[in-house]
Amino acid sequence: MSVLLVIISYLIGSIPTAYLVVKLVKGVDIREVGSGNVGATNAGRVLGFYGFLIVFLIDMLKGFLPVYIAKTIYGDVFIIYLVALATIFGHTFTIFLNFKGGKGVATGVGVYLALSPYNLLYAFIAFIVVVALFRMVSLGSIIAACVLAILIWVNEASIILKIFTTVLAIFVIYKHRENIKRILNGTEKKIGEKVNI
Ligand code: G3P
Repeated sequence: MSVLLVIISYLIGSIPTAYLVVKLVKGVDIREVGSGNVGATNAGRVLGFYGFLIVFLIDMLKGFLPVYIAKTIYGDVFIIYLVALATIFGHTFTIFLNFKGGKGVATGVGVYLALSPYNLLYAFIAFIVVVALFRMVSLGSIIAACVLAILIWVNEASIILKIFTTVLAIFVIYKHRENIKRILNGTEKKIGEKVNI
């Protein structure tokens, strides 16, 4: 039963929300516009703020629901983290798009909404501050992932949660490696910049 939940979580994570919504509304392949990322930020470049919001909320739910269900039904730490990994892994390496998915941020937000909502809130505040100052979602995501990892080490007792969050933060930074290059050479897109399709 728990194996089934892990597999279902991977499949739920795999739902390529940004790809589907952009394809449905504009008829274009999100992998060929903007950053090419199958995520809420890139969907927002094509569809505007509400497009971003819808994709973000659905991707967030893909992380929240499986972990919340695993917590409620099993309560077993091992299964909860396997489910969390499976849904984030599904989002970033989706089976439906030849394993090319998003960067794990929105789905990760959902996972931490279920695992550690207060620490998530403070990481979100860090995200808002960075985005308000620099107008780059990628930079906000990278800083928020680091802030979350630090907060989890400071505020949480579970060593598994600490290690899990650290690994995840490193993974999120790795997934943003192209963004980091663009930030450093001054070509990263800022919020509000739309793409031509
Ligand atoms: O969540 C992804 C975001 O941090 C960056 O997206 O499209 O600018 O690579 P993008």
